Amino acid sequence: MPRIRFYGHACFRLEHDGTQVLIDPFLTGNPFVPGMPADMKPTTILVTHGHYDHLGDAVELAKQHGATILATPELAGYCARQGAAAEGAHMGGTARFSWGSAKLVPAFHSSSAGPNLDIYVGNPVGFVVRFFGVTFYHPGDTCLFGDMRLIGESSAIDVVYLPIGGLYTMDMDDALKAVQFLQPRVVIPGHYNTFPAIAVDAAGFKARVEATTSARCVILQPGEAYEVG
Ligand code: NI
Ligand code: MN
Repeated sequence: MPRIRFYGHACFRLEHDGTQVLIDPFLTGNPFVPGMPADMKPTTILVTHGHYDHLGDAVELAKQHGATILATPELAGYCARQGAAAEGAHMGGTARFSWGSAKLVPAFHSSSAGPNLDIYVGNPVGFVVRFFGVTFYHPGDTCLFGDMRLIGESSAIDVVYLPIGGLYTMDMDDALKAVQFLQPRVVIPGHYNTFPAIAVDAAGFKARVEATTSARCVILQPGEAYEVG
């Protein structure tokens, strides 16, 4: 069965039979990650937006492993100018791969790159990923928005990652509402405790999700994987 591995913050790796799809590969500088995992060998890297805590090591890993980056055309172009193989797509579009597909969906945030975050790289996005039959929704950095209902209606979501730290993204109250809109089987919280400003009680979130929705909330420790049953 496919596995969804969490590296802390918003970095996830989908794994099945030797295929790895990496999402928002913030590994270098990620306080939850002791070093680059030795078994890292992605075939595709999905990047929701240009901020360093999401773009992360995407360019280096793509060059090292011959992986393709999927992002908005502006962010894909930024990566391609640094020598990485990168493919651009826009919201509403679905990119197809040997392992499945990734559809770009809206996210309400900003997207810029560079050390001063002053290089414009298009709109931020989320991804609805079909990976060997499993549907995983990674919303990127976003606030809650009503069209999450539409995303939930359009796809039977097996697993959703939701940011819960607030300040830069939705907070726990809004993430709970997102679970109601999306109706996933499983929710994995993230984007919390990375920095003091986004320190929250994830166990409290889990209790609220499981008391008020039919979803299961799985709190993954960095490095840990959830096997989708
Ligand atoms: Ni961001
Ligand atoms: Mn972020």
